[in-house]
Amino acid sequence: MFIAESLDKMAKIYHYPVMWREVLDGLQFSGRKVVIDCTAGLGSHAYKIIEASRKDSFYIGIDKDSQSLKETYWKLKPFEGRFVLLQEDFINLDLVCGEFNIKKADIFLFDLGISTYQLTNPQRGFSFSAKAALDMRIDKDSLLTAFDLINNLSEQELVNIFKKFGEERYSRRIAHAVIIQRKKSPISTTTQLAKIIEESVPPKARFGRIHPATRIFQALRIAVNRELESLKIALPKAINLLKKGGRIAVISFHSLEDRIVKHTFKDFASQKLLKIITKKPKRPTEAEKKINPASRSAKLRIAEKII
Ligand SMILES: C[S@@+](CC[C@H](N)C(=O)[O-])C[C@H]1O[C@@H](n2cnc3c(N)ncnc32)[C@H](O)[C@@H]1O
Repeated sequence: MFIAESLDKMAKIYHYPVMWREVLDGLQFSGRKVVIDCTAGLGSHAYKIIEASRKDSFYIGIDKDSQSLKETYWKLKPFEGRFVLLQEDFINLDLVCGEFNIKKADIFLFDLGISTYQLTNPQRGFSFSAKAALDMRIDKDSLLTAFDLINNLSEQELVNIFKKFGEERYSRRIAHAVIIQRKKSPISTTTQLAKIIEESVPPKARFGRIHPATRIFQALRIAVNRELESLKIALPKAINLLKKGGRIAVISFHSLEDRIVKHTFKDFASQKLLKIITKKPKRPTEAEKKINPASRSAKLRIAEKII
């Protein structure tokens, strides 16, 4: 009984779909036929989407992470026949549409970054709270790991990554400490890197609101998975593949991601191809932030294809 309750609780934590009511309202599901979820993750948005969609609609869930997709499959099993899941980078969403002979889709959804399921899995190396190899690949078949970046990039290249993707004010000190340390021996674990970061920042940053390694780990993850490059390429592809009246929703968690979404939507709007539905991004309610603290930085933008 206790185990069942704990598992249920865990499932709720891991699988809470961020701003799902706002996503469902904003995407106006009634009448939609082809839904492409570019970040299926654990299928939590997918479940809500399929539940809210017409019986003859079809859901395509894409994710780079095969492990997550296995979970998703079991979650969506009650809807067998109404969905398909593909391990793919969303940068290739045009190829996916081609494969299924989809000329235009009704809905595109992007819920960016990684899930708590991935973040808290000690074997994936995304978090510094457990000792693990410095990996951070979303797609386990890709070649580049955080280990490769930390142990091979120049000091200036590390500074650039820490500054650009982590907005870390102590980027120089941290990069310098990494270089000194790796001359002695390679930096191979998450906890080893976290300790180097902790010891290289001034005491006031060491004991601040967030752990000093948080922003560096985020920066490395973004760099390893080329997250911003993928988004910049995939968003215009998705908008071009939307049918007239079709809608696109993007949930982002990082200011750089949100900037890409905002500018891409604006570009298409200025060509009279897109109508921006959310003039300002929607944010999670206080109640949602309480249930799911991971949603606190989420921003949701929605737009509609005009022609
Ligand atoms: C925040 S989670 C999505 C959670 C999902 N909406 C749900 O309800 O369970 C983000 C997902 O995007 C996936 N992802 C990140 N970058 C990707 C990319 N370029 N192509 C495909 N999937 C990607 C991650 O593997 C992760 O599962």
